[in-house]
Amino acid sequence: MQLPETHPLRTGAVADAPLLAALRGENPAHRPVWFMRQAGRSLPEYLEARKGTTMLESCLDPALAAEITLQPVRRYGVDAGIFFSDIVVPMKVAGVGVEIAPGVGPVFDRPIRTMADVEALPALGEPGDRGTFDAGLDAIREAVRLTVAQLGSTPLIGFAGAPFTLAAYMVEGRPSRDHLGARRLMIEAPDVWDALTAWTSAAAGLFLRAQVLAGASAVQLFDSWAGSLAPADYVAHCQPGSAAALSAVADLPVPRIHFAAHGSHLLRPMADAGATAMGVDYRLPLDEASRILGGDLPLQGNIDPARLTAPVEVLEAHVLDVLARGAEAPGHVVNLGHGVPPETDPDMLQRIVDLVHARG
Ligand code: CP3
Repeated sequence: MQLPETHPLRTGAVADAPLLAALRGENPAHRPVWFMRQAGRSLPEYLEARKGTTMLESCLDPALAAEITLQPVRRYGVDAGIFFSDIVVPMKVAGVGVEIAPGVGPVFDRPIRTMADVEALPALGEPGDRGTFDAGLDAIREAVRLTVAQLGSTPLIGFAGAPFTLAAYMVEGRPSRDHLGARRLMIEAPDVWDALTAWTSAAAGLFLRAQVLAGASAVQLFDSWAGSLAPADYVAHCQPGSAAALSAVADLPVPRIHFAAHGSHLLRPMADAGATAMGVDYRLPLDEASRILGGDLPLQGNIDPARLTAPVEVLEAHVLDVLARGAEAPGHVVNLGHGVPPETDPDMLQRIVDLVHARG
């Protein structure tokens, strides 16, 4: 399938984007940089824009979602927008009872524990079938269209939560430290687990595809909790779902970044799920990550968020070290090793952008 004629990858709008060059394994004039959670509570303009709306309401308001996506791009001059949404938005669109509790994270009305619970989940349908789910994604498509129209030559990254992370939230019903409930279900009732992750991978895949067809030029699959798994469990119970989600956009010419916080021990099997680039958290130096992957894939990362509040010299020395190690990979997109903490001073992120653009 081809992208629509108005897509930035077809009009040529993003043809010279450093982000896409780095993700193709090339060396653009400067290394691209963006930040996971660059939109959000660290920005005063975000707090202002969000007044009076819940997190999920703002995700489903196309003009507001577009505005919030654009805020950090305007402010910092980063090399990509990350679509302002959330990993549980597809669940909300499907009609599952979920909210994002401030300071907590996603909370579901009815945790999923049994096959009957999985069977009661709403049907998702097929891409473009105009069923409830497909039609519900129109708010997402509209937000993406409004965003890319204003982003011009800066690419938009679409994203989804990986099937394991989504399923872990649905089983626990809320954020959990060790994901024990999800890991137990996976082992004790693999049929229920497989049915649930078939549903979450379909939801993630349809969510990704809608964003790409509406104008996103790259995607990232976030497997935030996969790091709690041993490699063998990852391969047996999670990799197939992530591969299915990524394959939903594999016929389209967009790079596919795959990231797990705490996931250094899973780099190879996560790459094998169908990624074209790997996000690396701050625990594993990028040169080592590249060696583990045999120099196969461009890397993204991995500035330590804890150093954002350190003295400027400490932060800048760290960024230069990340740049030096990232140069060992075939393509390097600078990012943090996890999301921007809410208390971050935006001036520190600006320093990083300026330093990367000058020295990267
Ligand atoms: O700049 C961006 O990265 C914007 C888009 C984005 C959000 N969430 C917005 C958001 C992305 C890519 C996500 C992904 C996401 N959501 C993940 C994967 C990334 C990761 O951090 O590992 C996860 C696990 C979630 C679930 C989630 N949503 C959590 C844990 C929280 C934090 C709850 C809190 O209040 O501390 C959210 C809410 C959320 N998602 C916010 C934002 C900007 C904060 C909402 C607010 O302003 O109160």
